[in-house]
Amino acid sequence: LYANRLSVAYHGYLRGDPMSRLHLAPGRRDPYAIYDGLRAEGDLVPTRLGNYVTPSHRVCDTVLRDRRFGVRAAENVGTPPPGTQVDMSFLDRNPPDHTRLRRLAQPSFSPRQIAGFLPQVEQTVDKLLEEASAAETFDLVSAFSAPLPIAVITDLLGVPDADASRFAEHGATFGSALDGIRSLRHAARLIEASRELEGVFTRLIATRRDLPAATGPDDVVGRLLAAEGDRVEAAEMLPMLRLLLVAGFETTVNLIGNAVSALLDHPDQWADLCADPAGLAERAIEETLRWDPPVQRTARCALEDTEVAGKVVRRGQFVVTLLGAAGRDPDVYADAGRFDIHRVPEADHLAFSSGIHYCVGAPLARLEATVALRRLAERMPGLHRAGPLRRRSSTLIRGPIHFPVAR
Ligand code: HEM
Repeated sequence: LYANRLSVAYHGYLRGDPMSRLHLAPGRRDPYAIYDGLRAEGDLVPTRLGNYVTPSHRVCDTVLRDRRFGVRAAENVGTPPPGTQVDMSFLDRNPPDHTRLRRLAQPSFSPRQIAGFLPQVEQTVDKLLEEASAAETFDLVSAFSAPLPIAVITDLLGVPDADASRFAEHGATFGSALDGIRSLRHAARLIEASRELEGVFTRLIATRRDLPAATGPDDVVGRLLAAEGDRVEAAEMLPMLRLLLVAGFETTVNLIGNAVSALLDHPDQWADLCADPAGLAERAIEETLRWDPPVQRTARCALEDTEVAGKVVRRGQFVVTLLGAAGRDPDVYADAGRFDIHRVPEADHLAFSSGIHYCVGAPLARLEATVALRRLAERMPGLHRAGPLRRRSSTLIRGPIHFPVAR
């Protein structure tokens, strides 16, 4: 079924494994207390199935940058056979395939290209807030933080007439599958979501193929089609578009939700933000990425025996890098557990990973989340909770799934 490096965390379901506590109710509510417990066991803690897990910022960063580690085992090359797993494109490939495929996508997400999206992001944010203001109470996720990134990424990829609520459902299905498949029903939903997205992209590619190359827009799909047969195989296009689409909204939705939740829990800082939205929104987003990041962990596999933090990680063994723990590492950040939008951080957070897989969409995520928070503070300074927040069930992707608020 769905087996890739992220599923190394399945090992956490084994009783007695250092990661098993993440999957229990208290760990799902507050993984940071579990990470602190792990920290007491060292920088590189063995797991029961013969891998390692690290809560250390320094070790996470070192492993993520070390070219002796890959996202899959050295002998595991090429496109996964159909039906064996969801192909996550270059997120799940080692060089040279990773380099070749990432180069095709990256130009469309450069800071310069993304800055050009500002007016569209502002317009979408304003439209959503206008609609949300019709009622006293609304769900921050379904009314605001979910539809925003869906509108932006479907537009960027050229997907026509995207059904936002349907995409949000599929996104949640993919996101939860990263954490492990829980039941046959869950597997069936994953297959259905896969098929539907496949249909969307197959139609998109077919429509664009019919356009003369010179008249098609110079966007991701245009670049993929121009490179087809030379730098990209037809079978690689669909997984790449699916990766960009799902990564494009399943993460940003949580960043906005986590930021608003943290700020409402710290009313003095919400008041500071409302007094200076243009000056503080970006800082509040960066602090959220450090303190409560949407992607809590990733993993790397040793391509050869490699010494890390005084231990030898053997070829084929994984190191689970706890990005959420790295952001609260007391060896790096003063008063690491305190949320403080005025903080001048001692080091970059690892919320977007590090090294060659550093998030392609970071400029876009930052732009969307910053504009969302700025406008929210400008238009709804009286924002407060209107009911209990419900979290996603995943331990890998962290964020609210229902977040009732009132203005
Ligand atoms: C990779 C986080 C938004 C596209 C990653 C990785 C992380 C991450 C941690 C690397 C995983 C690893 O090292 O194994 C986030 C967060 C986001 C976000 C926290 C929002 C707050 C986006 C957006 C896009 C995107 C908006 C838009 C397309 C990608 C892609 C990769 C990636 C394509 C694969 C990069 C590679 O393997 O070279 N992201 N992401 N992400 N992200 Fe994001």
